[in-house]
Amino acid sequence: MKLIIVANRLPIKVSENNGKLEFETSEGGLATGLNSLDTIYEKHWIGWPGVCPKDKTTKKNITMEMVKMKMHPVFLSSSQYHDYYEGYSNSTLWPLCHYFYGYSAFQRNQWQAYKEVNQIFCNKVMEQVDDDSIVWVQDYQLMLLPNLLREKCPNLRIAYFHHIPFPSFELFSVMPNSSELLKGLLGAEFIAFHTLDYMRHFTKSVERILGFEFKLNEVMVDGRAVWVDALPMGINYELYSQAPSTEAVKDSVYKLKEQFGGNKVIISVDRLDYSKGIVHRLVGFETFLDQHPEYHGKVSLGMIIVPSRDKVIKYAEMKKHIDEKIGNINGKFSKVGWTPVNYFYHSFKFNDLVAMYKVADIALISPLRDGMNLVAKEYIAAKQDSPGVLILSKMAGASIELTDAILINPNDTDEIALAIQQALEMPEIEQKRRMKRLQERVSKYDVNRWASDFFKEWKEVIDRNLQINNKTLTKEGLAELFNRYSNSNKRLLVFDYDGTLVGFHNNPKDAYPTQEVKSLLTTLCQDDKNSVVINSGRDCNTLDSWLGDIKGLKLAAEHGAYYKDNEGWHKKSGTQKWDPKLLEIMRKFTCKTVNSHIEVKETAIVWHYREVVNEMGQFRARQMMRELIPICSAQNFQIINGNKVVEIKPNQYSKGTEIRRLIDEDNFDFIFAIGDDTTDEDMFREMPYDSFSIKVGNTCDDARYTLTRQKDVINLLYGLCVR
Ligand code: UDP
Ligand code: G6P
Repeated sequence: MKLIIVANRLPIKVSENNGKLEFETSEGGLATGLNSLDTIYEKHWIGWPGVCPKDKTTKKNITMEMVKMKMHPVFLSSSQYHDYYEGYSNSTLWPLCHYFYGYSAFQRNQWQAYKEVNQIFCNKVMEQVDDDSIVWVQDYQLMLLPNLLREKCPNLRIAYFHHIPFPSFELFSVMPNSSELLKGLLGAEFIAFHTLDYMRHFTKSVERILGFEFKLNEVMVDGRAVWVDALPMGINYELYSQAPSTEAVKDSVYKLKEQFGGNKVIISVDRLDYSKGIVHRLVGFETFLDQHPEYHGKVSLGMIIVPSRDKVIKYAEMKKHIDEKIGNINGKFSKVGWTPVNYFYHSFKFNDLVAMYKVADIALISPLRDGMNLVAKEYIAAKQDSPGVLILSKMAGASIELTDAILINPNDTDEIALAIQQALEMPEIEQKRRMKRLQERVSKYDVNRWASDFFKEWKEVIDRNLQINNKTLTKEGLAELFNRYSNSNKRLLVFDYDGTLVGFHNNPKDAYPTQEVKSLLTTLCQDDKNSVVINSGRDCNTLDSWLGDIKGLKLAAEHGAYYKDNEGWHKKSGTQKWDPKLLEIMRKFTCKTVNSHIEVKETAIVWHYREVVNEMGQFRARQMMRELIPICSAQNFQIINGNKVVEIKPNQYSKGTEIRRLIDEDNFDFIFAIGDDTTDEDMFREMPYDSFSIKVGNTCDDARYTLTRQKDVINLLYGLCVR
């Protein structure tokens, strides 16, 4: 099976040096982490190769070289690259997702380029996919891609991982194109984040911006299940923990030790990025030196900054600021033989980086906001049995797992200074104890475990969708239904009303039947072989006034408490008297919840919250039910959390008892019932196994078939009418 990993950046980047092409590994957590993934699939990469060549021959040469490594370069023009990468990706999305709201600039032309480039990626993926492929899209540069692929290839297996923080709904909704980005992601069937917080920010954004509703980790989109989860990415532990034992790294360690003398070494490793808190860290180190002259000449900070996105204005500005700050500190404290900050503004080769990790007594990792931070995990792995202390920002995704680090608030420079002191003075035995526990975690949840957890869950949602598809009424299923209908002589046809025959309206009173529905029901009733019933939760008067004029149509109201046949209405129950305590609770919640209302029926009472903001409605419904349950169970009432309603009714009647009564009335050879809500599932459970029970909307265990959309019910009715 082919696994196609699609990311903005390939794990190998190309540069042109005097007309010669050079290939080297890319930096950044995504490329380094995913490249070391060991999988059973045939792994292909699609992504930008790091250059924008103009001539065809260069493109051809790059492609030929890269294809040998199963990498398929996507070429962009310089202006596309500028507007999509430096522009929308890194000047709009990146700052917003990292809570640098003030840095986030929206320019329409850059958004256009972002859409255009996502489309170019889509075309490239389509060139590579075959029937057996699964496509794993990576990160914020490609948020529209999952849905573009879905539109082109509805059955394609698509998943997405978001490697950076997903901001809170309040912040995300500020973005002019927030709904398009969310719809883009929902083209995938599995969407994962590093932490539960990012995942919850995403689900809340989907609920508030798109109005969809998550049931735990699942949301239904166009009849497909989409799952979300939190899966923190790991590193290639074996690689980093074994490398320090190699001769090359040992050699490098030796040289570094000489360079730092007997000084204690603190290191930090980041791409040049304002989210990494580099200036705050320098101020924290300066504060430490101010407060602790006894450490002057004894501690050095080795600061590795890898050049990144330097064409983006904010990055260029920050570079200047960092240079100045380092100059100030070194100017203020340096003395012969000691430079407090050793600054390396270039990327390190793997062996040299591991050697740095190995010699460092302390790793000071203090991003202001970071999706994960793999450097923290790499440091832990490379320490092997040596002591060492990790100081880690609470704002890094990794802090959720690495709780044996000294966790700090990176905005508090005094806290950074204190943490440095604490780390320097931590007894070796305590350092080793903490390091061992950190190593246990990082070695267990390595990059392969992360990916295998991801694939396992992806497979589960694929199975879930197959199960949904198996129940979906296809052309063949419909043909069987129509065939059985035509060949039968005594048919029972039972329809739920709201959400089945008529779509939902904000005000339930507006959901009267259309002329089309009435004439379809009339046609069905005119066939002597049919017994047509509306089995609804509505009250008798409403059903009578809306449908009472259709000759032969039978009605059942208030979930089976009343039914109407040729002789008129039969009441199975008297008017219900409601306990004042129960009414008081319901009124209290109605007052507290704008746009909710109470409907009192003869036998049931309903709290409607369709017009209430999604999250608020669900929250109040749950709160209200918690208060109502003791009263309802004492008085033998059933309490149902239905489709944006909480309904309280006597226990002894349901739509199930009504369909049972109807089935027992005659010897039917075709039984059909259709409905969309939880209360309709009571009907499905009472039906013989070979009858046709159909759930509208989401699949349910008790119905034999599913129809995804309410408007499909109307087509089905047309189909029955012409038989
Ligand atoms: N890295 C590298 N060369 C360097 C410095 C860093 O390859 O000179 C790698 C480092 O090993 C790590 C990645 O870059 O795997 C940085 O990932 P991280 O998650 O810490 O930060 P990101 O760059 O993704 O924001
Ligand atoms: C972070 C992002 C990656 C990105 C990397 C390097 O890890 O999540 O998507 O590739 O930084 O950034 P760059 O802009 O150089 O690709």
